[in-house]
Amino acid sequence: MAEERRIEDLTLLVTGGAGFIGSNFIHYMLDHYPRCKIINLDKLTYAGNLDNLKDVEKDPRYEFIQGDIRDRELVRNIFKRVQGVVHFAAETHVDRSILDAGEFVLTDVYGTFVLLEALKNSDIKLFIHVSTDEVYGSRDKGYFKEDDPLCPSSPYAASKVGADRMAYAYWVTYGLPIIILRPSNNFGPYQYPEKFIPLFVTNALEGKNLPLYGKGTNVRDWLYVEDNCRAIELVMRRGKVGEAYNVGANNEVQNITIAERIVDLLEKHKSLIKFVPDRLGHDKRYAVDCRKIHALGWKPEKEFDKALASTVRWYQENTDWWQKIKEKSKEFKSFYEEYYRDRK
Ligand code: NAD
Ligand code: TYD
Repeated sequence: MAEERRIEDLTLLVTGGAGFIGSNFIHYMLDHYPRCKIINLDKLTYAGNLDNLKDVEKDPRYEFIQGDIRDRELVRNIFKRVQGVVHFAAETHVDRSILDAGEFVLTDVYGTFVLLEALKNSDIKLFIHVSTDEVYGSRDKGYFKEDDPLCPSSPYAASKVGADRMAYAYWVTYGLPIIILRPSNNFGPYQYPEKFIPLFVTNALEGKNLPLYGKGTNVRDWLYVEDNCRAIELVMRRGKVGEAYNVGANNEVQNITIAERIVDLLEKHKSLIKFVPDRLGHDKRYAVDCRKIHALGWKPEKEFDKALASTVRWYQENTDWWQKIKEKSKEFKSFYEEYYRDRK
């Protein structure tokens, strides 16, 4: 194995650090690396939330810049001040991409291009591009390996493929120090409550229905967010530039099973679970082969049932955090009602 990179003293740009995984990653880095510095560049879209970082906002090692990754001048200036980049910023919700894919193309594809252009003209030593397991598309059996063809099915996943391949192209063409990560579905604290697990937990706490798409038999491989942060950390240290790494927990669960566990954990009645019309083009199953990142020395540590229970507890104990979001947003009706209404 090549020599490990030292990341102890890095000044790191985190894009999209006010979102779910980005804010967990900033906490993780500040907790584990006393000498690191972090600049968080976030536009604060509907999904960005500075409440996620309240406890670190006065930390001298942390700086927040509100701005858009598509702002070339701003990005160029920030790149002069950092040695590494971890790029999370994106539009991320599949249901929103079904209703309107425009922002996904502009942020996920074009925004990534702006960062890569700035990288070309900088001294930055490492650029971690956070992609997703959804780039491969769906499969009923078996597992996708990193060099399998990408066959995305949602507008979100297609935009992430654009970004993923653009990052790869900048490595091949210009030899830039880029590594790609493709994590599976994350869950944990600070996840915006439009996503499956926090939506179901918070709806159940409010006594509202849990809208389960289709038959509830779709499968995702659930990865606790802290395990994903450790994977990013490890790849920063040991990952090979120009490579992509799948990150999954080998933890495949049907949606119906998760819905039932949430209801049980909250001691609510199963009748809250309502089967609703399916998401358009709903991917049946995501599954990735993670031998490549295992070989680097990473494996998930959190056991799923315990991690789900502690996540549910976090939403129970942090009602102010999610109630504020839900009150602000008109959109918590239901995406499926919106797109079926539009099609009539
Ligand atoms: P999120 O939606 O919670 O957060 C996205 C953040 O990006 C927000 O803070 C938002 O304000 C910011 N942002 C959006 N557009 C921006 C722009 N133009 N300029 C600057 N900031 C902008 O997303 P997340 O769930 O934390 O996902 C982070 C990354 O990880 C994404 O790239 C996503 O595709 C990828 N990913 C997520 C998961 C998951 O399960 N959540 C799984 C695999 C990969
Ligand atoms: P989601 O959290 O949107 O992640 P992704 O689609 O990117 O994997 O959804 C996870 C699974 O939960 C997916 O199969 C769709 C399903 N789902 C529902 O059944 N009901 C819902 O209200 C939502 C948001 C998702």
